[in-house]
Amino acid sequence: MGDAVPPLRPPYTKPPKGASPVHAPVLVAAVIDLTEVSRQGSYVDATAGAGGHTQALLDAGAARVLALDADPDAVARLRDRFNDDPRVSPVQANFRDLARVAPAHGFDRADGVIFDLGLSSDQLDDPSRGFSFQHDGPLDMRFDPNCGRPALDLVNHLPEPELAELLRRYGDERRAGRIARRIVQRRPMTSTAVLAATVKRAIPGRQRIHPATRTFQALRMAVNDELGALTAGLQAAHDLAAPDGRVAVIAFHSHEDRIVKHRFRAWAAAGTAEILTRSPLRADAAEVTANRRARSAKLRAARLTLTH
Ligand SMILES: C[S@@+](CC[C@H](N)C(=O)[O-])C[C@H]1O[C@@H](n2cnc3c(N)ncnc32)[C@H](O)[C@@H]1O
Repeated sequence: MGDAVPPLRPPYTKPPKGASPVHAPVLVAAVIDLTEVSRQGSYVDATAGAGGHTQALLDAGAARVLALDADPDAVARLRDRFNDDPRVSPVQANFRDLARVAPAHGFDRADGVIFDLGLSSDQLDDPSRGFSFQHDGPLDMRFDPNCGRPALDLVNHLPEPELAELLRRYGDERRAGRIARRIVQRRPMTSTAVLAATVKRAIPGRQRIHPATRTFQALRMAVNDELGALTAGLQAAHDLAAPDGRVAVIAFHSHEDRIVKHRFRAWAAAGTAEILTRSPLRADAAEVTANRRARSAKLRAARLTLTH
C-alpha cells in the first residue's frame, strides 16, 4: 500500500509580528557565575536568540553586549526588546564570522563570549521555518533564510548513501539506511509533514521519541553546518577574549559537547586557557521540570590566560 502523505498546505502560518518571545534561557545563573561579569566589561552573546542571556549579562553589570544571531527574525525581536538600551548592539551575523564582525562593531576585545547552541523555542514553534515535525511547514531549517541551501535541497537531491551518512553522522540514527531508502523512493519531499510521515513509515512501531526526531536534528545540523560553525566560532572567541576573559558554551548534544571539550583541552595544553569546568555543568531537577530543553544542556567554560 502506498504512503498516504499529508497534502501540502501553503501558505504556512507564522506567529503574528511582534509576538512576545517564548524561549526560556537555560543555566542562566551558572553562565553568569562562570563568566564573572565585571562592571566595565564588554561581552559577546554569540547566540542571542530571544535575549535571555543578554539580559542576564546586563543585570550582572555588563557595560556592553554584542548580541549576535544568524536569524534575522531573532535580531528584529532583539531590537524591539533592547530598543532603548545603548549597552546592547543586536547584529545579524553568523558566529563563525566573529573575528570580523566583533571589531566591525567596536568590540576589539571581549571579557566574555557565550554560546547557547542550537535553536530557540521561537524558531521551533514557527511553522514557516520548517524546524519542527510537529507542524506542517516548508523544508527550510536555515537559521538565516537568506543564506545557504534549505533542507528541501538535501532531502530531494542527495544520493541515497550520502543521505544515510548524513542521518548517521549528525543524528546518530541507527536506522539511517532504511530511512534514506524510503525518502529516496518517495521523493519529492514537499513539506515537513510529508518528511515526518515518510520517516515514520520507514521505522514503524512504538518508540520513546518521535521517529523523525533524529532525522530533523541531522538535517538542521547539516543545513546550518553547525559543527563547522562551532569550531570556527570557538577559535574566534579564543582569539577575541581579553586576558582573564571567559568563553562559556551550552551544548545540547554529544557532537557539539565533544568539540567544545576537545577545543578547551587543546587550549589548556597550549597554555592559553584554564578549564573552569572539569566535567560539564547540568541543570538541576527544578530547572528541568520548569524547562524541558534544559534536560540535555551541558555547560563548559574556560578562562583565557594568555595576553595576545
Ligand atoms: C538556544 S537559542 C539561544 C537562546 C538565547 N540564549 C536566549 O536566551 O534567548 C540559539 C540561537 O542561536 C542562533 N544560532 C545558531 N547557530 C548560530 C550561528 N552559527 N551564528 C549565530 N547564531 C546562531 C539561533 O538562530 C538561535 O536563535
